[in-house]
Amino acid sequence: MKSFLHVQDIGPLEAALAEAADVKRNPFAWKSLGKNKTIILIFFNSSLRTRLSSQKAALNLGMDPIVLNVNGDSWKLETEMGVVMDGDKPEHLREAIPVIGSYCDIIGVRSFAGLKDRDFDYNETIINQFIEYSGKPVISLESGTVHPCQAFADLITIREHSTKKRPKVVMTWAPHPRALPHAVPNSFAEWMNAADVDFVITHPRGYELAPEFVGEAEVEYDQMKAFEGADFIYAKNWSSYTSYGQILSDDRSWTVSSRQMAVTDNAFFMHCLPVRRNMIVTDEVIDSPRSLVIPEAANRVVSAQVVMKRMLEEL
Ligand code: CP
Repeated sequence: MKSFLHVQDIGPLEAALAEAADVKRNPFAWKSLGKNKTIILIFFNSSLRTRLSSQKAALNLGMDPIVLNVNGDSWKLETEMGVVMDGDKPEHLREAIPVIGSYCDIIGVRSFAGLKDRDFDYNETIINQFIEYSGKPVISLESGTVHPCQAFADLITIREHSTKKRPKVVMTWAPHPRALPHAVPNSFAEWMNAADVDFVITHPRGYELAPEFVGEAEVEYDQMKAFEGADFIYAKNWSSYTSYGQILSDDRSWTVSSRQMAVTDNAFFMHCLPVRRNMIVTDEVIDSPRSLVIPEAANRVVSAQVVMKRMLEEL
């Protein structure tokens, strides 16, 4: 695997899920695979789960992880080509990336969508420069349009908790005070469309995701109708794709509460975290025994470890 951004990069899902189960059962079985190998994890944005789970996954595989916080620890990096660098960014990605590549064997990059320029974000302008100029395998740790390590962990969690061959999975928009990127809902949609689930997306009008990520999913604008008979509720806020980066609604009736959960088939509640309580979901739902937010976050180590393991095996 030369890069990990999309569900196709992991190959057949059943094999990936079986490998995830192996890794979870025996996380240290491949400790020698990463001996004398280094992964550099570059963060242009904040993180708790991705930073720690990626480091833990690397350590489980015997690798040495190095974390670089751009804008904190390093020079500020210019990301656009052709600009006159007379501002506050003294180094360009064009030099920084091959330098970073010369120090490691695998690179992970977190670079959120700026939500200003849809083409810049949707062309994956930053991570694609890492892929082009580093000469090393590159993992998206949430980039302009995708968060594949999260979606893989979500699928692992659904598989672990599903009692049905083809569960109904509903991804619902929920209100949030700030404009958020599309990477989590895009990837979740992409992975659910590839998985053996009955997938429904529900959101207010104006929050349609990019068509290439919606794929064949059912879109239902009535949240209560979407929740009927659901086995898994996946809540997330995102900003508008069509009115790019805008907040179009703060309708609190979309906050996931026991009112909506009552029409599900005793559904599990999921969210990638961090979550704003009583905006996205009520305390009652997130604190209930049907909430999977902690096991879902724990599976971030597993998904990252499978991806890194595959990359190490191909070095
Ligand atoms: N879910 C997730 O990616 O969390 P962090 O932003 O804390 O890494």
